[in-house]
Amino acid sequence: MDIWHVRGGNRLFGSCRVQGSKNASLPVLAASVVLPVRSVLKNVPRLKDVDAALQILSHLGCRIDRGEEELIIDSTSFTGAEIPRELMAEMRSSVIFMGALLARCGEAKLSLPGGCQLGKRPIDLHLSALRQMGAEIEEEGSDLFCRAERLRGADIDLRFPSVGATENIMLAACAAEGRTTIHGAAREPEIVSLQAYLASIGADIHGAGTSTITICGAVGRENTVYTVPSDRIVASTLACACAAAGGRIILSGVKADHFSTVLHFLNDAGCDIINFKDIVEISSNGDLRSPGHIVTAPYPGFPTDAQPILMAALLRSHGTTQFTETIFENRYRQVSELRRLGADLTVSGTEAVLRGVETLHGETLTAPDLRGGAAMIVAGLHTRGETRIIDAGHIARGYDSFDDTLCALGAEVWIEHK
Ligand code: EPZ
Repeated sequence: MDIWHVRGGNRLFGSCRVQGSKNASLPVLAASVVLPVRSVLKNVPRLKDVDAALQILSHLGCRIDRGEEELIIDSTSFTGAEIPRELMAEMRSSVIFMGALLARCGEAKLSLPGGCQLGKRPIDLHLSALRQMGAEIEEEGSDLFCRAERLRGADIDLRFPSVGATENIMLAACAAEGRTTIHGAAREPEIVSLQAYLASIGADIHGAGTSTITICGAVGRENTVYTVPSDRIVASTLACACAAAGGRIILSGVKADHFSTVLHFLNDAGCDIINFKDIVEISSNGDLRSPGHIVTAPYPGFPTDAQPILMAALLRSHGTTQFTETIFENRYRQVSELRRLGADLTVSGTEAVLRGVETLHGETLTAPDLRGGAAMIVAGLHTRGETRIIDAGHIARGYDSFDDTLCALGAEVWIEHK
């Protein structure tokens, strides 16, 4: 158990390099078993979810070597197709090992994945797509037994652009005979990253970043070197932290396009944003106004992962901000906790309404999930007194040394490990 302490009131100044992306790293780690290959991966963040994926890879017989700058995964020594329940339960992304294992050995024994409790989070799109590609999947309670003597290319229509389902299909399709086309694919930067990694190990794959992705198998290579892109949600969190606390920070190693919707609302709320090449500078006097109506949507829309965080930054803004959450049914879990700081927030179904208040006062809160926990840190930065956040390890799933990053920018943040 971690207790985060945030003493509000300090403005943030300075520059920081944004960590590699969690949600880009996890599918690449699963993809590293699709073919026997030695992958040298750079910019993989040190996170609990990454450790969980490495444990799965190690359980599957891969050799792993983690250095300061590189993470090397050698999947030529792959031995197994079964992932124990306790490893599957560590995170949501474990589900994409299903496509990876089917591609590698035509078999996968696993169970329903864990991850943040954001609602029902079914995997029907994953299962129906893999079945269309010739996989037989039996569900027994929470266990999944998958087998495919031969995967075949298919035309798959996704009724919703699910990130995980798109990734699972891309991985399985590397071993399928013929062409697989995904219609209605997710367009997130993490999908573009996965395509780049798969192409680097010999996959014939095109279209990521658009709604149609085609995969025509893979030839295989012995080695690859791949650099994970920066984390657009961590970049968004730092931008929101500066907006709320006031100050001027420079984020480097980022692609402004990847979080432009968040920057757009921060700009409308009164922040100055400058971007040049891989640098984004955010300046704020800490006196924000409502940026209007924020509606979450699949990429390139406003990311659901940034919704709790932007909400936290706007708690003291002038005016009324409306949020509409369209991705997850349970993504306002931060609201009841933020109210305890004095925030004026109401929720009804998919809608939340925020009326800015003049001051917030420190309280002890409980992080409900990863981004909810990050939201509480952002809230604490513009709260009078000390905010304590009891966190059962959610924040460490997605943020690498976030206390150090914030302290280097001038915040007063420390973690008590209990
Ligand atoms: C990915 O989750 C991210 N996780 C999430 O990041 C992110 O919130 C989400 O995409 C949306 O952007 C990783 O990349 C590891 P989805 P994923 O499949 O793949 C429904 C974070 O904080 N759906 O696009 O699970 C589902 O219930 C997190 O870093 C089905 O109905 O998201 C949800 O309502 C948490 N059937 C919606 O689609 C399915 O088979 C979006 O889910 C699959 C999904």
